[in-house]
Amino acid sequence: MPPVITLHTEIPGPRSRALLARRAQAVPRGVPTVTPIAVVHAEGAVLTDADGNRLIDFGGGIGVVNTGHRHPGVVEAVRQQLDHFAHVCFPVSTYEPYVELAEQLNRVTPGTHAKRTFFVNSGAEAVENAVKIARFFTGRQAVVCFEHGFHGRTNLTMALTSKVQPYKKGFGPFAPEVYRIPFPYCYRCSRGPTGGRCCLADQGTLEQTFASTVDPGSVAAIIMELELGEGGFVPAPVEYVRTLTAFARDHGILLIADEIQTGFGRTGKLFACEHYGLVPDLMTTAKSLAGGLPLAAVTGRADVMEAPHIGGLGGTYGGNPLACAAALAVLRAMEAEHIPARAHETGNRIKARFLEWAKRFHCIGDVRGLGAMVALELVTDRASKTPDKALTGRLLAAALERGLVLLSSGTFGNTVRVLAPLTASDEVISEGLQVMEAALEAVVGRAGATV
Ligand SMILES: Cc1ncc(COP(=O)(O)O)c(C=O)c1O
Repeated sequence: MPPVITLHTEIPGPRSRALLARRAQAVPRGVPTVTPIAVVHAEGAVLTDADGNRLIDFGGGIGVVNTGHRHPGVVEAVRQQLDHFAHVCFPVSTYEPYVELAEQLNRVTPGTHAKRTFFVNSGAEAVENAVKIARFFTGRQAVVCFEHGFHGRTNLTMALTSKVQPYKKGFGPFAPEVYRIPFPYCYRCSRGPTGGRCCLADQGTLEQTFASTVDPGSVAAIIMELELGEGGFVPAPVEYVRTLTAFARDHGILLIADEIQTGFGRTGKLFACEHYGLVPDLMTTAKSLAGGLPLAAVTGRADVMEAPHIGGLGGTYGGNPLACAAALAVLRAMEAEHIPARAHETGNRIKARFLEWAKRFHCIGDVRGLGAMVALELVTDRASKTPDKALTGRLLAAALERGLVLLSSGTFGNTVRVLAPLTASDEVISEGLQVMEAALEAVVGRAGATV
C-alpha cells in the first residue's frame, strides 16, 4: 500500500498560511491555533489541507471522530434528516430521532435501571446540567471535582477545571461551592512508589481528605473523568474508584462520570465506566457521540433526572435533529463495526510500540492509558520527572512537518496523546507511529539523547 501521507509543500503551505493570516485579522488569538494548517477535506483518519497535502490525523478533532471523519453512515443519516427538517426546537415540537437516541443511550450506558437522557450542545453544557440536576435532586450545593480534571470553559465548568493556564487565569470570579481533591495520578503520587497499589484508595484516606475539604453531607455530586483527558490521559486505579463509589454511596453523594472524552469506544469499551464496573448516577457524553456534529447528553437514573420541574431543563438547539440522526448512526457503527473491540486491539499495538520506544528514549517517563486512549509523558529526566513541555512542543512540530497531526495534554503540557479515529486501518496507524518515531528521533536523536 502506498503511504497515506503525501506532502506537496512544506507544512504549513502557502494557502494554509494565507488563511491563517486572514484568521489572525478576524478571530481573537484566545482561540488557539494548535496546528497551522487549513483543512479543506477529511475522510477516515486523513486530512487534506488547502495546499493539497494529505496528513494523518491522530487528534481526531480532539476525540470527536472515533468513527472517523465523514463516516458513510453518519453522512447518509444527516443527509436524509436534512431532507425532512433541520430544526423545530425539541421543547416546542417532538421528533423521533431525539426520542430514539435517548432510548438508545438509556440502553447502552451502564446499569439496567430506569434512565432518562436529554440533549444539549456541548460537553460543558452537559456538565453544567448534570450538576444542576444533582443539586436539585439532593437539595445540596457542593460539588467535588479532581486535581488535573477538565470539564469545560463555561463559568461553572471553569471552576470544576483544574488547569489554571490557559483555562482559568484572569477569568474569575468562579462559581462557588466547588471543592477539589487529589486525583490518583500514580506516576506523580507525592507518596512515591507504593508497589503498584493506589495509596489514596482507602476509606480512611478519603475521610481525611474530606475532613479538610468539605462536609460530605453538603455534597450533591462528585464529578470524575475515569481517565483524565486534558489532564494527561491518566486512568484512575480500579481500587480507587471502588473506594470512592462506596464513600459516595455512604454519604448520599451522586457520582457523575464525565465520559465526554473517554466515551464511545475510545478506551476499548463503549464507556470507561465498564472497566470499573461502575454504574454512575449521572453520565455526561459529547464529542464522539455525534461523529462530528455538535451534540452532548446527560443520561442518568430516572428518579434523579425526573426531579427538576417542567421547563427547568432544555435549550433552543439541544438535540438538533441532524446531530441526533448522526449520533444514531454512530451507535449503529459502534455495534456493527465492533469499534470498542477494535480500539482495544489498536490501543495494545500502540502501547507496545510506545513501551519499545521507552527503552530507547529516556525522555519518555510514562506510557499509559486504557484501550486506544494512550499517551506518552515526556520528562527532562526519569529521576526528577520534571515535565518537558518544550520537548513536547518540538515533537508535535516535528510530527506535523512530516504529515502527522498529534496533540498534547496534561496540566504541565508534557503529555503526547493519541486520539486517532478508531476506524483507522492497521496500515494508517502503523504509518502514523512510524512518523511519530521519526519525529522523536529528530528531536532527541536516534540514541535517545535530547538534541
Ligand atoms: C472530559 C471533558 N469534559 C468536558 C469537556 C468540555 O466539552 P466541550 O468542549 O464540548 O464543551 C471536555 C472537552 O475537552 C472534556 O474532555
